[in-house]
Amino acid sequence: MTRSTAPGKVYLFGEHAVVYGEPAVPCAIERRATVSVERRSDDRLRVEAADLTIDGFAVEYGAGGTDGPEIDVSDGLVSAATAYVDEAIAQARDAAGEDAGFDVLIESEIPLGGGLGSSAAVVVATIDAATRELGHELDRAELAERAFRTEYEVQDGQASRADTFCVTSGGAVRVEGDDCRRIEAPDLPLVVGFDGGAGETGELVAGVGALREEYGFASDTVGAIGDLVREGEAALADGNIEEVGRLMDFNHGLLSALGVSARSLDSMVWAAREAGALGAKLTGAGGGGSIVALDHMEEVETALELTPACEEVFRAELAEEGVRR
Ligand code: PMV
Repeated sequence: MTRSTAPGKVYLFGEHAVVYGEPAVPCAIERRATVSVERRSDDRLRVEAADLTIDGFAVEYGAGGTDGPEIDVSDGLVSAATAYVDEAIAQARDAAGEDAGFDVLIESEIPLGGGLGSSAAVVVATIDAATRELGHELDRAELAERAFRTEYEVQDGQASRADTFCVTSGGAVRVEGDDCRRIEAPDLPLVVGFDGGAGETGELVAGVGALREEYGFASDTVGAIGDLVREGEAALADGNIEEVGRLMDFNHGLLSALGVSARSLDSMVWAAREAGALGAKLTGAGGGGSIVALDHMEEVETALELTPACEEVFRAELAEEGVRR
């Protein structure tokens, strides 16, 4: 059996604008998905995920999923999760040049679909574990590339390299088009609030695209997020945490203007700010899901816990290490 883990991530700055070639700065957080794989004697794939949904699930099917699942996967999130695993295994088979079958066990501490990089973490850990199980070790660059291709495939071409690169490499990263690199960042006291839901990434990305077509100033808003990200990078490099917080607030406002916030996200952002957070913003595609606040005070966590829209609150340490073997 071979096991790999990969962290989740939050966006400090730049989601959505990154789709239009602006830079973004996601950072990996110490909440991990762990994937264990064992080669089978046949070419079938069995996927078990204890934590991805409340009840957990297990499905078994032939190579390429052609035999159909053994149990019901009508739950949208479950079938989405199996699509990612299926495609990740296809990438591993391609890398190793073998059509092997696997038993796959997924254990995840990252809420599914909440803008915290759960799919990227599962994909990266699955490709890494499955290739190593076949005696083939990928370097981080190829692993990130294959994980990106997996997300690109499953999300019908609506994926940037940000998530997959970030969870592979760990730390804070800067992504601009194909150019992905790690950057220096101070230790950031992050708190995450999760509303228990998930936005539809494809629809939200398409919504921003439609606004850009309709209004020149929506395009300018996307460009303004790019300018803000560049300021944010400078603040991170200087270790100026107050400025990072101020820019996170600004970034949330611009994302709201682009129509991707939600009442639940706004209420958590305001609860965090009113409790003294240095800054707070939605993270990921929006529409529901998670916010990230910058602060180390207990008051912020308590305020989020008391916010009716908030289902889960946790401190998120920066994960210096990405995929771990
Ligand atoms: O919700 P997430 O964590 O998958 O983030 C989506 C980020 C977008 O910029 C909206 C899309 C993308 O692929 O970069």
